[in-house]
Amino acid sequence: MIAEMNLSAKAQQLIDLEDKHGAHNYHPLPVVLEKGLGVHVWDVDGKQYYDFLSAYSAVNQGHCHPRIIAALIDQAKKLTLTSRAFHNNILGEYECFITNYFGYDKVLPMNTGVEGGETAIKLARRWGYVKKGIEDNKAKIIFAEGNFWGRTMAAISSSTDPSSFSKFGPFMPGFETVPYNNLQKLEEAFKDKNVAAFMVEPIQGEAGVLVPDYGYLKGAKALCEKYNVLLIADEVQTGLARTGKMLACDHEGVRPDILILGKALSGGVLPVAAILCDDDIMLNIKPGEHGSTYGGNPLACVVAIEALKVLKDEKLADNSETLGELFREKLNEIDSELITTVRGKGLLNAIIIKEKDGISAWDVCLKLAENGLLAKPTHGDIIRFAPPLVITKEQILDCAAIIRKTIESYN
Ligand SMILES: Cc1ncc(COP(=O)(O)O)c(C=O)c1O
Repeated sequence: MIAEMNLSAKAQQLIDLEDKHGAHNYHPLPVVLEKGLGVHVWDVDGKQYYDFLSAYSAVNQGHCHPRIIAALIDQAKKLTLTSRAFHNNILGEYECFITNYFGYDKVLPMNTGVEGGETAIKLARRWGYVKKGIEDNKAKIIFAEGNFWGRTMAAISSSTDPSSFSKFGPFMPGFETVPYNNLQKLEEAFKDKNVAAFMVEPIQGEAGVLVPDYGYLKGAKALCEKYNVLLIADEVQTGLARTGKMLACDHEGVRPDILILGKALSGGVLPVAAILCDDDIMLNIKPGEHGSTYGGNPLACVVAIEALKVLKDEKLADNSETLGELFREKLNEIDSELITTVRGKGLLNAIIIKEKDGISAWDVCLKLAENGLLAKPTHGDIIRFAPPLVITKEQILDCAAIIRKTIESYN
């Protein structure tokens, strides 16, 4: 049974407009949003929903957080972009703030998460040649199977998902994959002296919220030290309080050599990414060797400072940890054969739907939307639940009840 949604003429018209003039590179749920505040979004017909995707964890601080928007508007009236050909009065303050916040010597500001990954790889390759002594053009980067870090040619070159890489070759050389959550295979790969770095998500988000065994990150870090390989943590999705700690690596007390942040670094207001590491790695890149027109622009810098302050001031990591546990507890109480697995950490969670009587994860998401909660399936059978971290206990219980009612309605 394929669930249908009743769309207003207005919503249908807007969907048709996208369909006619936009590339067909996404397959959205038939919901047309026009407003957001905190944990809620509203569609063009005024219907209110809980947002359980949070723009793929970019709006951890909630939609249109008043402090972040105020910082944006205030700075937008003064200076938005200068180009890095000149200094500006905000960049240094931001760089000082974010490096102190995360405890690294330096930051390299970029815009999108995928640029963060590209930058980390350039830094690692350069470090490999200059510091580790890898022969020119021989550097290798190891990734975990199931990784997702964007859609650029480099990102899809490391992908093991055919829907990412098929018919886009030839691919970037020097990338290898090992199974996720497998330290033995990682060690085998590290025995190659040309390995410069291991780039990994502490929890694989797009792969369906795959949480590795406790000790995996610590073990990976120990192997990196043993074989003189850099640990690059892609915390674009898991970072910034999403999993119940400021960084997902904090769960195991691991400090990556290179840290990539994006998404919630701006609270969903602008594309802002940051790559953090110490001088030994960062200072191998010289003027002209990397950059971006918008990277480190004053508008992004003030927004990122405020977005980071909000995370701490509102104790969003603690909220994520506590409410995440409560949420999984409630999901586990649902009486349905449709759900085979509940997993996650903090407020990054997922359920796996076993298709039954023709009911798919997509159908469940349509019904959830009807019932006022927006979530989207990934890989056909997985539904990720990642609300803004400003959600309250009362709201999370309300949402768990919506999910329960929706899923049990198929019994
Ligand atoms: C772990 C991870 N890294 C990188 C990216 C890419 O970020 P962006 O879409 O901002 O380029 C994503 C996007 O979902 C991600 O989940």
